[in-house]
Amino acid sequence: MTADELVFFVNGKKVVEKNADPETTLLAYLRRKLGLRGTKLGCGEGGCGACTVMLSKYDRLQDKIVHFSANACLAPICSLHHIAVTTVEGIGSTKTRLHPVQERIAKSHGSQCGFCTPGIVMSMYTLLRNQPEPTVEEIEDAFQGNLCRCTGYRPILQGFRTFAKVCGGPRTAVALLLRQQHSGITVGRDAKGLYVTEKKDKMASDQVLLLQQVTLSPSLFNPEEFMPLDPTQEPIFPPELLRLKDIPQKQLRFEGERVTWIQASTLKELLDLKAQHPEAKLVVGNTEIGIEMKFKNQLFPVIICPAWIPELNSVEHGPEGISFGAACRLSCVEKTLLDAVAKLPAHKVEVFRGVLEQLRWFAGKQVKSVASIGGNIITASPISDLNPVFMASGTKLTIVSRGTRRTIPMDHTFFHGYRKTLLGPEEILLSIEIPYSRKGEFFSAFKQASRREDDIAKVTCGMRVLFQPGTTQVKELALCYGGMADRTISALKTTRKQLSKFWNEKLLQDVCTGLAEEMSLSPDAPGGMVEFRRTLTLSFFFKFYLTVLQNLGKEDLDDTCGKLDPTYASATLLFHKDPPANVQLFQEVPKGQSEEDMVGRPLPHLAAAMQASGEAVYCDDIPCYENELFLRLVTSTQAHAKIKSIDISEAQKVPGFVCFLSADDIPGSNKTGLFNDETVFAKDKVTCVGHVVGAVVADTPEHAQRAAHGVKVSYEDLPVIITIEGERGYNSKSFLPQSETTFHPLKAKALKLLFNLQDAIKNNSFYGSELKIEKGDLKKGFSEADNVVSDWTHLSELYVGGQEHFYLETHCTVAVPKGEAGEMELFVSTQNAMKAQSSVANMLGVPVNRILVRVKRMGGGFGGKETRGIVMTVAVALAAYKTGHPVRCMLDRDEDMLITGGRHPFLARYKVLDVGGCSGQAVGFMKTGKIVALEVDHYSNAGNSLDLSHSVMERALFHMDNSYKIPNIRGTGRLCKTNLPSNTAFRGFGGPQGLFIAEYWMSEVAVTCGLPAEEVRRKNLYREGDLTHFNQRLEGFNLPRCWDECLKSSQYDARKKEVDKFNRENCWKKRGLCIIPTKFGISFTVPFLNQGGALIHVYTDGSVLVNHGGTEMGQGLHTKMVQVASRALKIPTSKIYISETSTNTVPNSSPTAASVSTDVYGQAVYEACQTILKRLEPFRRENPGGSWEDWVMAAYLSRVSLSATGFYKTPNLGYSFETNSGNAFHYFTYGVACSEVEIDCLTGDHKNLRTDIVMDVGSSLNPAIDIGQVEGAFVQGLGLFTLEELHYSPEGSLHTRGPSTYKIPAFGSIPTEFRVSLLRDCPNKKAIYASKAVGEPPLFLGASIFFAIKDAIRAARAQHTDNNTKELFRLDSPATPEKIRNACVDKFTTLNILDWVPGTACSIALKPAEGSGGLDMRP
Ligand SMILES: Cc1cc2nc3c(=O)[nH]c(=O)nc-3n(C[C@H](O)[C@H](O)[C@H](O)COP(=O)(O)OP(=O)(O)OC[C@H]3O[C@@H](n4cnc5c(N)ncnc54)[C@H](O)[C@@H]3O)c2cc1C
Ligand code: FES
Ligand code: FES
Repeated sequence: MTADELVFFVNGKKVVEKNADPETTLLAYLRRKLGLRGTKLGCGEGGCGACTVMLSKYDRLQDKIVHFSANACLAPICSLHHIAVTTVEGIGSTKTRLHPVQERIAKSHGSQCGFCTPGIVMSMYTLLRNQPEPTVEEIEDAFQGNLCRCTGYRPILQGFRTFAKVCGGPRTAVALLLRQQHSGITVGRDAKGLYVTEKKDKMASDQVLLLQQVTLSPSLFNPEEFMPLDPTQEPIFPPELLRLKDIPQKQLRFEGERVTWIQASTLKELLDLKAQHPEAKLVVGNTEIGIEMKFKNQLFPVIICPAWIPELNSVEHGPEGISFGAACRLSCVEKTLLDAVAKLPAHKVEVFRGVLEQLRWFAGKQVKSVASIGGNIITASPISDLNPVFMASGTKLTIVSRGTRRTIPMDHTFFHGYRKTLLGPEEILLSIEIPYSRKGEFFSAFKQASRREDDIAKVTCGMRVLFQPGTTQVKELALCYGGMADRTISALKTTRKQLSKFWNEKLLQDVCTGLAEEMSLSPDAPGGMVEFRRTLTLSFFFKFYLTVLQNLGKEDLDDTCGKLDPTYASATLLFHKDPPANVQLFQEVPKGQSEEDMVGRPLPHLAAAMQASGEAVYCDDIPCYENELFLRLVTSTQAHAKIKSIDISEAQKVPGFVCFLSADDIPGSNKTGLFNDETVFAKDKVTCVGHVVGAVVADTPEHAQRAAHGVKVSYEDLPVIITIEGERGYNSKSFLPQSETTFHPLKAKALKLLFNLQDAIKNNSFYGSELKIEKGDLKKGFSEADNVVSDWTHLSELYVGGQEHFYLETHCTVAVPKGEAGEMELFVSTQNAMKAQSSVANMLGVPVNRILVRVKRMGGGFGGKETRGIVMTVAVALAAYKTGHPVRCMLDRDEDMLITGGRHPFLARYKVLDVGGCSGQAVGFMKTGKIVALEVDHYSNAGNSLDLSHSVMERALFHMDNSYKIPNIRGTGRLCKTNLPSNTAFRGFGGPQGLFIAEYWMSEVAVTCGLPAEEVRRKNLYREGDLTHFNQRLEGFNLPRCWDECLKSSQYDARKKEVDKFNRENCWKKRGLCIIPTKFGISFTVPFLNQGGALIHVYTDGSVLVNHGGTEMGQGLHTKMVQVASRALKIPTSKIYISETSTNTVPNSSPTAASVSTDVYGQAVYEACQTILKRLEPFRRENPGGSWEDWVMAAYLSRVSLSATGFYKTPNLGYSFETNSGNAFHYFTYGVACSEVEIDCLTGDHKNLRTDIVMDVGSSLNPAIDIGQVEGAFVQGLGLFTLEELHYSPEGSLHTRGPSTYKIPAFGSIPTEFRVSLLRDCPNKKAIYASKAVGEPPLFLGASIFFAIKDAIRAARAQHTDNNTKELFRLDSPATPEKIRNACVDKFTTLNILDWVPGTACSIALKPAEGSGGLDMRP
């Protein structure tokens, strides 16, 4: 049978594809076939939104054109017949006119590296096509499926809020102060422009004082510059497609290399096809099948698409409920139910509300717009969010096959195994009827995940109770859970016992007892987090119980049940976020500064407009060369093993296979790595899962992937070391992510291996010897105390988890052999062009001068592209050398996460010495809270090679004091050698780990001392001129200023009281508040790296090309360099351009890292500019009235060189560990953050309510970029300390390999109120134009959220322990919902429910109804 033509439109142009392959995604087609590279590949699994496009179609049932966003990475092209696709290129361009969405994100500084930007633009664009005047909430919801790793989201939201109905423009500092949450003050400007309040209270006047003290610029951008949105100007739906609307659809067939796609047009056709191909998969949204094909290497030779069939898309409002065709998209279900809730009486829509609550947190818009309700049910995922709701509500399913039809309730019999349903092979699901609820019926749904948005559940549930009419006596009770077994389950045993019982405390206790028994999990249950999940089953029921009780109260039926204690009421509230509020304050440039001088002004990132329009070129956007080939790495599946053999016979059978490369193919050296302790390709043995064994080269990336899967390596296992110590490397018991595959029975077996773990400390597996910094005399300090050495009883431990870089653009290299004298040109996404260049030369055995490495820009780096990308770059270079063809490789997200390592996990052990302070406790402070002695042993998990681990540990030791003076101190560091992929640089480079440990023990000191934490911290701060523990003098120590300003502007004292009040009034929700400082050393700690070069060319038209050794990864380095050159040369920035970084313009460049690039390259650019100016000076003098162009031309005609180099090295560096002397750093950057959070003690969920940051960045070169760095780093730190958790199998295989399992902060993760101000009047004499480095220092401030959480947990625990606020408890980082919940110890966590025999021990929920006997109902 011949295949049909696929017809669709892209940006208004018709595309006719005669050979549509069902395995080709829209993303691959756009990028490779159509050359539209604005749409990006960030993950390939629907989890990041970088590939977002808008799809438009004529909907025959609704009889209208509909627009929706979709993930191009999951959409098979075959699903697009007669659909119009709009990509970022289709809505605007810098060459013609930017679309307002593109303009606003660029001008509001919402694009840093820009890799996420096209996807975010398209999400916003789609929203505006459907809703030209959206609300603020709709704008935030539009981004649930988009991630950004750079900006911290605030600028994106702020820029786009200008489209919102209620918001006339971005909120300026003043506008925001107008809505002071806590004091209700109003602020405005008086006639003189001074800030004034209407309400003269203390807090208000503090705020105003602050504003009046500084010449502050109220906004980082001017909304008046924005083009208005004109919906009439949008491209129209292709008329040709509209004309087809009345033509009947006919069956289509597309034949690919391995898969046939059949688009059925009627139900009969569909059932016939299913009878012919019972093994065929039905594909609607492909959000499940697409993942299985791409990541689980599954093949489905026949796919049937039912998307056109009316019966499968219909929505019918029946007498008993609303019936949805199985192919109805989740967005349609959501809209229909929302309408029903708005129209129908409240008692009828209880179940609908439950479904809506689940859909609220279900994936992002892109997934919900295409994924079907039937697909969710039939996938039968044990963690489906909808199935427990459907099961609990008594939803009915209609199932058909050729000649049969049956309607069944979706009860506990429907799922009969892991991913198994009752459907026979020829059957399909036709429709789903979600019932109306009845009078006396209540329904709730709950879900707890690691992150609120777009995350799979740990536990999810639907709960329903129906009462006998007019009573509180249970007629029906259903409690259904996901995440507690290999399928959705119903707690039948427990619920059956409750029939005819009254809704009171006794029932609560019985249900909890029953659930604890029925929902038990064995300690090694797949999915881990056993304690947490078991607790959640009870917590959810408790919430349901309270919610029903509250509703019964409203119905005045509460006579037989207790009254809800008002302090319990907040436990019933669903998550709700207040409207966001931001303040960004910075100092305006001095009056009189020339308009042309851009230094100090919030100039947008120079490439932002191109990034927003999709024109910015990243490595993989370089058009394909004619004869280009593609490489795929073959990596080890074993953590430590001998390689016995490699069999490539299966790979060779894959069409398009070109060659397999191994160590034997290398002409030069197979040794690589910073210390030559790595191999290009493993030869005899592998030392981690992900170790590169070889590579396959083929004609397409898809063939290369298939061939790589075909390479079979056999191994002989060797002993494995994975963790620093014990199980802790797995982040306590949560060692496995709860991906549904972990429910597979085979996985459970593998988990048993956990107990044979080997750890590095026990096996003495270290790199090098111990690193140490020591100052003062610990022994003397101790001897002055009453205690003796053996009294050092307070030995504490703390684990700080690692972090994945998750730059949106994965590693990418294109290598082009030049065919002459070993020359090769490489385009690499790297922070370290020099190292890429020398590694390739070394591997090929050619001099370095034959290798040219070029870097245009990166889609984020964060340290992850400093050294680890080299493992792939050298393989690509070898492939280009061997084949003589250009070769390309862009790592898939899962490969990138597996192979390239991340931030080092740390284990710290510390002793704080008591020198006569609080008696009876071995704590090292005076009664006043003053610290006197400290010893911390640090261990890092370095992985299978040394890489940068030594320097990372050095930096951790340099930061172990944070900002505190500790007279007697010793810090040691050991690098654990393990069988994990080598860990590496990550923004902060060991600093955040050292700083975190310092704040941790500091908070314990304050608690033990019984003093306010902020007082103890302030008391211990260094002072101007003090020496650090590594004997560096602190000059220009602005930290106390930052501290005082932050304390004041955050209204700390007043809010502390508010927090205490809240905590007294709320039993199951608690708030915490914390303020912490940071001091971050600026310089590479290896002195020789602190150098930088620049090369400036001035052309005869006066235009200037700046080259420097730094790379652009979104941090705005090129923008700042143009600002520097502009001021130095006194010409407008428009005359200056930076095209790329290359090894043939500026050689021997250090990696762009350690926050120093602006300092070193800025100074180098400045020097080069001075040389040019000197050469032009005679011509300027000769023609003082002339222009820049005149002088340049005159110099040229006089044969004066218009090209100059500049060079800078940072002076006075050189610390010695032996003598503990010499400067480790050039200077320090300081900052302070104050954060407030609210935790849900029952679920471990938390909300970031407000963060205030005051940061000293000297005289900011560009406040917009600097604030962007502060916010972006803060949010990355928030991720590190509260969200992001890596999970490994016991065998050392990383489980968290994509956005579905590894959660970076999303739009909703940032503080609702986010206020950042740059310290004023603090020029830094040590860096270019008095600025300071900013890239890394603010990251640690994200820990303020962690410590606020800990503060809130303390309040929860105190309630449980007779108000003991001095109790110390351990909370490792990150503070995930699991850890928070487990730390909020109560009856649910301990599952000690047998104590709850009514009338005896303390009970849990209620104030008893009056006269029913007085039990203490506290937790
Ligand atoms: C980024 C992302 C986030 C997600 N988040 C969530 C989440 O928060 N909660 C959650 O529960 N799930 C989530 N999912 C899972 C997924 O979205 C759902 O399972 C989705 O509803 C599947 O629908 P689909 O149309 O895309 O399925 P497809 O991939 O098209 O099909 C899935 C399966 O269903 C079968 N099928 C489909 N229709 C029928 C029918 N009518 N009769 C018989 N068999 C049928 C197919 O044969 C196939 O086996 C997420 C997925 C992604 C990619
Ligand atoms: S690339 Fe498609 S969602 Fe990430
Ligand atoms: S700007 Fe969003 S990922 Fe870089």
